[in-house]
Amino acid sequence: MTRIAIPAETAANETRVAATPETVKKYIALGCDVVVQKGAGEAAFITDASFEDAGATLADDFASVVGGANIVLKIQPLNKDEIKVVGKGTVVASLHTPFTNPLLNDYAKHGLTSFCMEMIPRTSRAQSMDVLSSQANIAGYKAVLLALEHYQKFMPMLMTAAGTVQSAKVLIMGAGVAGLQAIATARRLGAMVEAFDVRAAAKEQVESLGAKFVEVPQDEETDAEDAGGYAKEMSDEYKQKQAELIAEHAAKADIVITTALIPGRPAPVLITEETVTKMKQGSVIVDMAVEAGGNCPLSEKDAIYTKDGVTFVGVSNIPATLATDASALYAKNMLNFMGLMLDKETGDLNIDREDDIIQGSLLCMDGEFLKPDLLKGSA
Ligand code: NAI
Repeated sequence: MTRIAIPAETAANETRVAATPETVKKYIALGCDVVVQKGAGEAAFITDASFEDAGATLADDFASVVGGANIVLKIQPLNKDEIKVVGKGTVVASLHTPFTNPLLNDYAKHGLTSFCMEMIPRTSRAQSMDVLSSQANIAGYKAVLLALEHYQKFMPMLMTAAGTVQSAKVLIMGAGVAGLQAIATARRLGAMVEAFDVRAAAKEQVESLGAKFVEVPQDEETDAEDAGGYAKEMSDEYKQKQAELIAEHAAKADIVITTALIPGRPAPVLITEETVTKMKQGSVIVDMAVEAGGNCPLSEKDAIYTKDGVTFVGVSNIPATLATDASALYAKNMLNFMGLMLDKETGDLNIDREDDIIQGSLLCMDGEFLKPDLLKGSA
């Protein structure tokens, strides 16, 4: 019988868990056996008892939960100590931070079959498995709330007996999944919203949410989108024009939320130090790209501070601040992904290396590292 292990996460500020009682029930219905480490769901307000009620058995510690497991489901990648404990040949599916993780090769050397959840292709068939989208959606929503916590004014326009309050102006940089949800959330709260993106396809989506798309004038049609739908690094000329436009719009904004990322590269600098000097007193910048170096050089990872009247919010791992729903959606993505490998009748594990979703996300198997480009520049 296929045995699935759900360890407790140990990374700092990680509150999520890779399975919920709902998904545990589904794995068991497929014929699998599920073991959950005691306390794994505690930070997401999912009790051990609810996992037991769903049919899981509980294990005391990491070694006992992964002992004898065929599959280990995690949020964060295995750390150096955990790799040594997980048995050779075990399937491990988790986030892997593939562009910066120094342990990638160790997973192969240890004989693990590792699936990188961030590398699941962004195709329609894989949409229900797309953890980047489910977590970015949460992060975009929460970023607006984080901004509001540090903003000393109302978001909506209000007409009161004591006077009229103007609605806040929110500028969103990067209109991918997180940016679009930030736009929708800020609009629901009554803000006036503007957004930038290098991908022309974002314009229609931004406008359909009732926000204004700020376009960088271009002499010739350049394709800012790669084959995977992601943004490419832009030309110096574009960057210069964009910087001028951003400075102009940031100076009028009350809240700036930046989400711009380029896979495998440091995040583009969009809000320069000079731009910050032009911003209003009391304005707030939430830099959601802070883990990739930040879209503003003044934001600091895991720090919130105010300098010269501007508050910088550099919270990393924002999805973990909404642990219950973040876990529920991640766990559902994971269940759909594992559905590619678990036999619907018997729950037996069968990895079809021809499947494009498996191919895209499989990092290593049988001691072989399958994405050599990721190892370039790493130890
Ligand atoms: P992301 O997290 O990689 O980047 C966030 C946003 O920043 C993107 O919209 C990107 O274009 C933008 N950006 C990058 N550099 C910028 C710059 N210099 N200035 C302004 N904006 C900049 O993006 P995310 O949210 O992961 O989405 C990536 C793509 O995948 C999008 O095209 C999205 O529509 C697509 N997608 C497709 C799915 C599917 O078909 N299943 C599911 C989810 C997303």
